[in-house]
Amino acid sequence: MKEIDWSNLSFGYIKTDYNVRINFRDGAWGELEVSSSEYINMHMAATCLHYGQEAFEGLKAFRGKDGKIRIFRLEENAARMQATCQGIMMAELSTERFREAVLKVVKLNEHFVPPYESGASLYIRPLLIGTGVQIGVHPADEYLFLVLVTPVGPYFKGGFSTNPYVIVREFDRSAPLGTGIYKVGGNYAASLRANKLAHDLGYASEFYLDAKEKKYIDECGAANFFGIKDNTYITPLSTSILPSITNKSLMQLAEDMGIKVERRPVPEEELSTFEEAGACGTAAVISPIQRIDDLDNKKSYVISKDGNPGPICTKLYNKLRAIQYGDEPDTHGWVTIVE
Ligand code: PLP
Ligand code: COI
Repeated sequence: MKEIDWSNLSFGYIKTDYNVRINFRDGAWGELEVSSSEYINMHMAATCLHYGQEAFEGLKAFRGKDGKIRIFRLEENAARMQATCQGIMMAELSTERFREAVLKVVKLNEHFVPPYESGASLYIRPLLIGTGVQIGVHPADEYLFLVLVTPVGPYFKGGFSTNPYVIVREFDRSAPLGTGIYKVGGNYAASLRANKLAHDLGYASEFYLDAKEKKYIDECGAANFFGIKDNTYITPLSTSILPSITNKSLMQLAEDMGIKVERRPVPEEELSTFEEAGACGTAAVISPIQRIDDLDNKKSYVISKDGNPGPICTKLYNKLRAIQYGDEPDTHGWVTIVE
């Protein structure tokens, strides 16, 4: 194995030793198989290739000061993948089988879990695809579930520091009754042009409003949005955003800290009232927002006047990381220790 510079990892792919796979054939999921191949051999008419029958997940494993490896909220990711499978009519994998696969692949690649001091983690990417053949638009009758892992550093350069975002109206990532609530590859294909536009203009990411009215806040690229004011954590309720497990965890932690939580439609104008705001997700953790520009209306919502993360964002970030790395007790039962 080539030496890995753990403290300078970016959010990218590094080859690890093994992945694990389970096939669905003849109406049932089979035995878990361990593979050292980075490739999938499949039929050219597989539904994942033509009709987008593809679900994925993202979760992380962390090495604690005690050397133990902790996986964050894997049952939640299993449940969300089941919801995605229902959404695009794929065979569902039970939480038990999901857990079996995730634990196995992490254990097999144990030496790729970054050391505690590096602040890095092992990104776990479950994938479920239609491998059965169809030429008419129908669900497949065969599926492959695969889990790969790769060590990662921060999603945004600079880690926990503020970033600028830009509202993009030209492209929608998902429709009000579409697949935005599911983690399917098509949503990310739909986001690529908006994302490139934002990056070309020097922003960390694109910022979406609801597709129907362009009035309410949806998401920040591949992360949920939250704003803070008057000791209240406010996050959009929308039928076109991914139910983020990080956001769900932050809502709980905020409540634990005596902060009020509101989940409701958030109109764009409300951006001018937030004392702090952040983008949150497994990859982004919390990425505090510096400002959100609305170029169409020549407006800039400056959230962080001094360019630094605000006190509540910082407190939430530290608390979440402390639970993930095992520095503080896991009072909500969010963590699975890899034995
Ligand atoms: N929104 C989108 C579109 C995402 O891709 C992700 C990442 O998974 C999130 C939000 C954050 O979700 P989670 O916190 O479960 O990673
Ligand atoms: C996440 O895991 O938080 C993501 O948004 C994944 C992203 C790279 C698609």
